[in-house]
Amino acid sequence: MTTNLPDDSTPWSELPRRLLVAGGAGFIGSAFVRLLLEREPDLQVTVLDKLTYAGNLANLAAVADRPGYRFAEGDICDRELVERLAGEVDCIVNFAAETHVDRSILDPDAFIKTDVYGTFSLLEAARLHHHRRFLQVSTDEVYGDVEPPALSLEDDPPRPRSPYSASKVGAEMQCFAYHATYGVPILVTRGSNTYGPHQYPEKIVPLFVTQALDSLPMPVYGDGGAVRDYLYVDDHARGIATVLARGTAGLAYNLGQGGEPVNGLQVARAVLRLTDRQESLIQHVEDRPGHDRRYALDSSRARALGWAPQLDFETGMERTVAWYRDHRPFWEPIKSGEFAEFYRRNYRPLAGTAPASS
Ligand code: NAD
Ligand code: TYD
Repeated sequence: MTTNLPDDSTPWSELPRRLLVAGGAGFIGSAFVRLLLEREPDLQVTVLDKLTYAGNLANLAAVADRPGYRFAEGDICDRELVERLAGEVDCIVNFAAETHVDRSILDPDAFIKTDVYGTFSLLEAARLHHHRRFLQVSTDEVYGDVEPPALSLEDDPPRPRSPYSASKVGAEMQCFAYHATYGVPILVTRGSNTYGPHQYPEKIVPLFVTQALDSLPMPVYGDGGAVRDYLYVDDHARGIATVLARGTAGLAYNLGQGGEPVNGLQVARAVLRLTDRQESLIQHVEDRPGHDRRYALDSSRARALGWAPQLDFETGMERTVAWYRDHRPFWEPIKSGEFAEFYRRNYRPLAGTAPASS
């Protein structure tokens, strides 16, 4: 079945055969499911997703008719539902989360519920059913602001500084406790800033790309000097699969692209170049409260398992801009709908430039 697919050293065939993928209708989770079923069409994959503003069944349309694929709409905090679904699989991969820092600053409540309690609910089900694996998808934001030239290593202490990153640390700590106390074979991945097709247009890359395509301003926080390590979504999904197949239970694994760090202004300029727009679209706005200036990872532990990102920032951005240019039906209804209200609240000085509400 894999003969027409490009070379991929990811150990897809070593994965558990029956998986529950929580949050699989979101950006990274859906990329993971699409790649997984493309490579291993015989796997049994159940996606559990609440379909919040960020969840989108269209992200899973490519796999909807696979015989092993099943979709369950529901909340990971629903203990009964989770226990029932977990009884039919060998492992859980948890992508489900509230994920946007700016929303966590406006409304932290849902972050604590989903990211912390929801992860606990999944861990309890994994314990009950003696699962072979539990993979918690976490983030490099757990390390907090990292002074140059240091690179974060997995054993560095967590220093979260936003409600989002604190909720992700809370989830991780439950995972490590379940490993130590009950022997649940957990794995944690800490991916860096991820971008690519199918991302809800609130994070910097899809926001700036869609704003530029509509010749609207790109709001750069503060001086635009905060740097991130941008990882293409398929590379992140392959990293998660590699850790799931080959990782050592009880450990965390950093997953970073590892190229030159990229700051906010550089993201904006890359978008301007690829969309052929003028520098005047860049608008500096008030800085994010508690804005972390730098994340930077040492990913040698994951690389030792055989994982390596395939796309550099430039190639990944070309693909991403091309995808958003060709997929207006994905993002136009979002930007004139749910997103418009968030944009007005979060970017008050630019409120007049919000996409038109439907
Ligand atoms: P996303 O916001 O695109 O998707 C999250 C998904 O979770 C959505 O489909 C949503 O409907 C679902 N969900 C939310 N609450 C739920 C609940 N209570 N029950 C069931 N489903 C629920 O997020 P993403 O960018 O794909 O991120 C996936 C995971 O990767 C998250 O855990 C995030 O913390 C982590 N991560 C993201 C990035 C990034 O840059 N996007 C980087 C590193 C790690
Ligand atoms: P974001 O994509 O929100 O990811 P995170 O905060 O999880 O790293 O932000 C990435 C960087 O881009 C961060 O330094 C903040 C900056 N940024 C802006 O300058 N303007 C924006 O509108 C957004 C959303 C982010």
